[in-house]
Amino acid sequence: QIIANQKAEISVIRDPEGHLAAAARRGSNLVNERRVQSVIMKKNNEVSAVKGTKLGNVMGIKDKEEKIEHKNFIEAMEDSSSPLDIAEQRRCLPAFTVREDLIRTIRENQIVVVIGETGSGKTTQLTQFLYEEGFYKRGIIGCTQPRRVAAMSVAKRVSEEMGVKLGNEVGFTIRFEDRTSPRTMIKYMTDGVLLRETLLDSGLEKYSCIIMDEAHERSLNTDILLGLFKKILTKRRDLRLIITSATMNASRFSEFFGNADTFTIPGRTFPVDIQFSKYPVADYVDAAIKQVLKIHYGKKPGDILVFMTGQEDIEATCQVLQERIEEIEEDAENKNPLSILPIYSSLPADLQAKVFGRSEVRKCIVATNIAETSLTVDGIVFVVDAGLCKLKVYSSKLGMDILQLAPISFAQANQRSGRAGRTGPGVAYRLYTLTEAEKEMYVQPIPEIQRTNLANTLLLIKSLGVDNLLDFPFIDPPPHATIYSSLYDLWCLDAIDNLGALTDLGHKMTSFPMEPVLSKMLIKSHEFKCSTEMCIIVAMLSVPNVFYRPKERQKESDRSRERFFIPESDHLTLLNVYNQWLNHRNSARWCVQNFLHEKSLRRAQEIELQLQSIMMQQGMACRSIGRQWDPIQECICSCLFVNAARFKKFGEYTNLRSVMSMVLHPTSSLYGTADLPEYVVFQELLLTSREYMNVVTAVKPEWLAKYGSVFYSARSDHEAVLSRLKEAMDDAKKKWNQLETSKTQKVVTNVQP
Ligand code: CDP
Ligand code: MG
Repeated sequence: QIIANQKAEISVIRDPEGHLAAAARRGSNLVNERRVQSVIMKKNNEVSAVKGTKLGNVMGIKDKEEKIEHKNFIEAMEDSSSPLDIAEQRRCLPAFTVREDLIRTIRENQIVVVIGETGSGKTTQLTQFLYEEGFYKRGIIGCTQPRRVAAMSVAKRVSEEMGVKLGNEVGFTIRFEDRTSPRTMIKYMTDGVLLRETLLDSGLEKYSCIIMDEAHERSLNTDILLGLFKKILTKRRDLRLIITSATMNASRFSEFFGNADTFTIPGRTFPVDIQFSKYPVADYVDAAIKQVLKIHYGKKPGDILVFMTGQEDIEATCQVLQERIEEIEEDAENKNPLSILPIYSSLPADLQAKVFGRSEVRKCIVATNIAETSLTVDGIVFVVDAGLCKLKVYSSKLGMDILQLAPISFAQANQRSGRAGRTGPGVAYRLYTLTEAEKEMYVQPIPEIQRTNLANTLLLIKSLGVDNLLDFPFIDPPPHATIYSSLYDLWCLDAIDNLGALTDLGHKMTSFPMEPVLSKMLIKSHEFKCSTEMCIIVAMLSVPNVFYRPKERQKESDRSRERFFIPESDHLTLLNVYNQWLNHRNSARWCVQNFLHEKSLRRAQEIELQLQSIMMQQGMACRSIGRQWDPIQECICSCLFVNAARFKKFGEYTNLRSVMSMVLHPTSSLYGTADLPEYVVFQELLLTSREYMNVVTAVKPEWLAKYGSVFYSARSDHEAVLSRLKEAMDDAKKKWNQLETSKTQKVVTNVQP
């Protein structure tokens, strides 16, 4: 962190822990952010060495006469963003002004719903208040977040505010990454992590209070946790639950907990001028870029926040915008650069952090709906809203969850616009017309529980001993059809039996923090004696794509990727990439040469180790099958037989169950092979312009008959099987209908698929 201080003409460099690491007078080259890395940092207030082109100039600091006086140092520290400054920032937050009342309410009530505008300090301050009040003495203060990015960045911020090292007193846990220690007293985590913890410790004994943050997002895990808390709180009278919510639909939570107390943090917002588009826009990326340029070159100072839908359109927006700005700036007399910063959940953490950094020029942050409520960036004056988001929805046609582009709700649109009015009056440009909004937008977003597959969740609930879903207190019950199809999926995976009870396999599957099908692959691999290999394959499936394919070097990178191909399987290709990386001693250079993302590989290695240790705990020590690929392919088939397809014509396959046509992705290792296999299974379907099978492996027909005997048969009594299956399904449907007509609002399990 470099802080330039005009008055003292001194720049201070801090190391990541906030210790003073180096300093330089203005004029020496150190006052250039790019050089921070070339300073070898020292904690004793001295610059020890500097590398770089203009060495001589900077090295001067080391000389006695150039050494900056101690007094000036202190001034510089006080004037810059030192811990003092952070404390001051804390005192200015709305939460701070109501601290005493808030604490009293929490002391007097077991459950409190805290409502407050975004940026009022709910996420960063509540945990610290509770800490300061000594709650940590009775157990950890936990705070859940629906998003990984938020859990990490907020934990980092709070550790800075408290002046401690991240991972000590303040830490975070997200799936596959635990940055806590025995010293941790404030723990940020994703709601999924806390949900899994309830499996191991149903009373959440190690916590003294839990803050369910961002409850208004109504993520699937939050909804389930809220249901579980009904029981936990009667068992643990000393446990405090605080539910925080943006202003939208907060009363639902209070009602759900028998009119629990609510506490509103008084807001402090400025008016936002909302401007709808006059005409429908054809291309929202293009429209957003134009709007940003108009603001940057035509409007008053202030940062810009653009809402896009995901990594792809964010990257496209940033790239084109950068090019346009460079074109314009090249000829301009007075330079007016723009700092363009993307943020989405799979962006590496160091790049995410940039969004919060200071900038001397105008910032333009291009974000997903993560910036709606869970991240607060100060200084936003302009909001550009594409009006869309990516929603995970269950497609009954495909029998799986797909990511679909959908209009946001009115509540979200207002939330987004509000981001412009935090520090002063702002303007929100909506890239859609008022008519479009009125026609297409819901008032409130649909909770995740009502639109996605629940297989994983139902598995968890069942393993918590809730056999009858009628007994589960859902804040909004999921539709019957979803429960039905999710139970059906679990049954196909052999996780539940014909009566809907958890099987041994199902029980084992809940030990793995991942989708049921991936857990099954790991468990099955033990039988096939290839668990070493399967841990790698599953780890590789759990990280962002390892293949790097830059636009300007596509051909070259494609050729490089082909060298890793195992022609019968994408799963094995992933294994091959990983093993070769190990053979090259995890060399970063080798990754660059071979167009591989080193970060993804390293992450896969961490995950692999964790999977191995879970396997050990479950009594399934890892075994390697060496270079025999048949057993690995058979193991994959024994789990993915539901996703099977038969060759139709080049590159095209027919789904064995739905008879739908699907294609191989051009990046698949099977794609180029002359002799395509007759039968394949695939990990998932990608839906873009066509239905692409993603991650494909060739299988033998007899395996399909063996493992998927309910669906497929080697002989051709296919028809008989299908009709048997249809009968069973009709029967189940009838039961559902009876239930529905009996007007029960709740939901029943134990339906035979
Ligand atoms: O949760 P809520 O939206 O009420 O507010 P918050 O996230 O606790 O943010 C309070 C303040 O902390 C904001 O004004 C942010 O400027 C600051 N903050 C930050 O600087 N960096 C972060 N990573 C998170 C918050
Ligand atoms: Mg918050």
